[in-house]
Amino acid sequence: MSLRSLTPLTPDQADIQRLAREFAQNEIAPCSATWDRESRFEPRLIKQLGDLGFLGMLVPEEHGGLGLDNLSYLIALEEIAAADASAAVLMSVHNSLPTQMLLKYGSAEQKHRFLEPMARGELLGAFALSEADAGSDAASLGAQAVRDGDSWILNGAKSWVTQGSHAGVILAMVRTDTPEMRRGARGISTFIITPDLPGFKVGKKEDKMGLRASPTVQLVFDDMRVPADRLVGEEGQGFVYSMQSLEHGRLGIGAQSIGIARHALELSVAYANERRQFGHFIKEFEGIQFKLADMATRVHGARALLHAAAAAKDRGEAVGAHTSMAKLAASEAAMWVTTQAIQVFGGYGYMKDFPVERLFRDAKVTEIYEGTSEIQRIVIGRALTQL
Ligand code: CAA
Repeated sequence: MSLRSLTPLTPDQADIQRLAREFAQNEIAPCSATWDRESRFEPRLIKQLGDLGFLGMLVPEEHGGLGLDNLSYLIALEEIAAADASAAVLMSVHNSLPTQMLLKYGSAEQKHRFLEPMARGELLGAFALSEADAGSDAASLGAQAVRDGDSWILNGAKSWVTQGSHAGVILAMVRTDTPEMRRGARGISTFIITPDLPGFKVGKKEDKMGLRASPTVQLVFDDMRVPADRLVGEEGQGFVYSMQSLEHGRLGIGAQSIGIARHALELSVAYANERRQFGHFIKEFEGIQFKLADMATRVHGARALLHAAAAAKDRGEAVGAHTSMAKLAASEAAMWVTTQAIQVFGGYGYMKDFPVERLFRDAKVTEIYEGTSEIQRIVIGRALTQL
């Protein structure tokens, strides 16, 4: 029985899946345990993913990308995640949050200068919304921009920025209202930040439970002068742009979660086929069979929801709550499936010599970043009750 997608694929989508799988299994999977152990980020991944076109999958060809649909993108992302969850978050964050914002709201000049090299893989993108005191309550962020002639002066610190230390372009959310007249979510604007700006600093690199090959850093803006033409779209719309980009980002985290869960399931099936206890292969025990059956059902169920949400988005339908459902189902499946995988492996599952403990650690953050599971339930609940 196949553990891979049951979604019917076009010949082009099947080619992309094959390309992503071969690259992931040949170039990434053999290194992922070492990268995790050494917390090593490999810049070569940016170049390789860029050469494959995987950093501009959703960008129209006129802007240097492949101009593909969301389903093609998510199929490729699942294959990368099944080899290495850290490589997958690189691809997901880049393709969704900064790319989608520039694609939708960037000026022609901003697209030419930033989006096109991003789509070609020459510049890595990052997204800076959260702060130490503004996580789930993103609208309460406090980094401040003050207009000064043809520039803005930015002060503040952004927390938990995925690949912020290696990004060439960071889309940052900063307040442009005044302390005297706060406008809540409507007082936030989006700026294009580049590391060459005077006053830009990379702060603390976080020491994390999982995704250890993906650098997560604090970014500090210290009287950082940003040219006025770096404002994206309209002043005061940065929160809305963030929510729209996160709707897309959450699909990517869904695919990442499914890749992690599928990998854990594949390893568990293989182990159940070779491990003997009480004179039998453990696959012969109903307790193990039921576990594997439940794991497979959750992987297939979450993927079906994810692909349905992606297909609806490709048709231009409003899918905000559905992307939250897909992210919620996939991330909770990843956590549950990786927990069961450790149980199937028993004592070996708890040891770092075997890969399932890494998958368990990698899965946890999918229930937290790009909106916790509780935030996804709020988005779904509000949509159901029209709050
Ligand atoms: N599309 C368009 N507009 C939207 C929107 C959406 N999806 N969601 C909200 N808005 C608009 C609202 O309509 C509202 O507009 P008005 O001012 O006209 O009323 C405005 O934005 C404010 O919305 P809310 O009143 O709903 O805002 P809220 O403060 O209640 O927060 C929330 C809503 C859903 C809880 C939101 O804060 C949220 O999603 N929080 C989680 C933040 C998050 O996901 N952070 C992830 C960090 S990034 C990351 O992890 C990336 C990484 O590096 C891996």
